[in-house]
Amino acid sequence: MNLVERIKEKARKSVKHIALPEGDEPRTVAAAKIIKDEGIADPILLTKEQIEAPSNKTKLDAYAAALYELRKAKGLTEEAAAKLVADPMYYGMMMVKMGDADGLVSGAVHSTGDMLRPALQIIKTAPGMKLVSSSFLMECPDRTLGEDGLLVYADCVVNPCPTAEELAHIAIASADTARTLCGIAEPRVALLSFSTKGSASHALVDKVREATEIAHSLAPDLALDGEMQFDAAIVPEVGASKAKGSPVAGRANVFVFPDLQAGNIGYKITQRIGKASCFAVLQGLAKPCNDLSRGCSVDDIVSTVAATAVQSR
Ligand code: ACO
Repeated sequence: MNLVERIKEKARKSVKHIALPEGDEPRTVAAAKIIKDEGIADPILLTKEQIEAPSNKTKLDAYAAALYELRKAKGLTEEAAAKLVADPMYYGMMMVKMGDADGLVSGAVHSTGDMLRPALQIIKTAPGMKLVSSSFLMECPDRTLGEDGLLVYADCVVNPCPTAEELAHIAIASADTARTLCGIAEPRVALLSFSTKGSASHALVDKVREATEIAHSLAPDLALDGEMQFDAAIVPEVGASKAKGSPVAGRANVFVFPDLQAGNIGYKITQRIGKASCFAVLQGLAKPCNDLSRGCSVDDIVSTVAATAVQSR
């Protein structure tokens, strides 16, 4: 069974309510039917017409009032809050915030930033989490790589330029995603760089080294190492020669990129040249909300909704 099938299987065990703010977008409508028919989740298709219908006014007013309370310190007026909640994206976020939905999936139409901003502003980070980031779950045809062909890449979506401390938190959150969503019992985390264990000197390398130290101190039991080049992280012979004795080198299954440029480029190379199938999840939010690529297929939406349902358990 591949990763997506395993995630769908998990999702079916406890049916969650997932808001879909792009409720009149054809791929989303088709995906919702599959999700419902296959018992993966209870999809809630949201449209502007339905939100603004007179029968929904009490709910709309309640969400507007709650959004105003949440954001008034940031300068949001009552008038602006009322206007925002009529937007299905904000309405969906408020459903999740208020416990009327367990999670949200969007992005077939909206850009990543337009989906992320309301999630960060309304849902916010989970208690104890320093920041929101993402993991890309990459399934490669070559099963000798990573964990039986499964590689977790982070952060390829959210944080353009993480500090060393933020990178450390991304590493720990990604290990947790590997465990809980991918079923990887022993995450082995490599913090990637263009240097392996001091082979090059540069401030960018220092940042990754510092991030490794911070992550070690925050999660001493996690198998984690850096700084490390990608080949040293993934090829056993290269790992053995460049980072002798490392618990991670040559057999990493979680790969933390030093910034968003590297991460985003890296996942697309693996997808396009390595022919890996992939999808992303956000990690660190108080409740799960996930983004789609605007080029997504119906199957991508089904997989992402299944993953969101599993994250909400
Ligand atoms: N974790 C938690 N909260 C955050 C984070 C984070 N990583 N980043 C921002 N925030 C919070 C801020 O604290 C702020 O909260 P507040 O309003 O309550 O004070 C709120 O989010 C907005 O922050 P801004 O800095 O004003 O938001 P910004 O306009 O910079 O947008 C965003 C943040 C959307 C995440 C931005 O960093 C971004 O655009 N990232 C890249 C997205 C992207 O294009 N990814 C690549 C494509 S995706 C793909 O290829 C699959």
